[in-house]
Amino acid sequence: MERTFLAIKPDGVQRGLVGEIIRRFEEKGFTLVGLKLLKVSQELAQEHYDVHRERPFFAGLVDFITSGPVVGMVWEGEGVVASARKIIGATNPLSAEPGTIRGDLGINIGRNLIHGSDAVETAQREVSLWFKEEELVSWQPTITPWLH
Ligand code: PPS
Repeated sequence: MERTFLAIKPDGVQRGLVGEIIRRFEEKGFTLVGLKLLKVSQELAQEHYDVHRERPFFAGLVDFITSGPVVGMVWEGEGVVASARKIIGATNPLSAEPGTIRGDLGINIGRNLIHGSDAVETAQREVSLWFKEEELVSWQPTITPWLH
């Protein structure tokens, strides 16, 4: 089953939006299989954003993601990688559609609340970067037959 990695960034935690953000993925019907609150190290942040190392906002993004607690999550479900990106909305909250997390709850591109893996291969890399195998719980919600 497909999995994606999502992280509620320090602004989402500080603003008390953890429950609201998790609710949107639960209501959609995806399954939470990994969850932790952590203070992200410089090392993890730099590795996570490695592909953006040469971009002008890299240092600021690393500073931001390490500035306060982050909620790391792994969600499972059919098509979850692309669907989660739609639920999250465009990178810049001012361009994100109403109804998306960033469109409803954010304003600034540097404070866009949540990260979501951009492809299935990226998701695999990010899940194993942020979570040990034993931290993930495989389970079958009994609601599944009502969703499919
Ligand atoms: S994406 O989501 O990868 O397609 O978007 P991209 O535009 O390539 O951005 C990569 C990550 O950098 C963040 N970002 C920024 N942070 C601060 N300031 C500026 N100007 C900025 N532009 C992009 C963007 O939110 C992506 O991080 P995540 O954590 O994936 O959201």
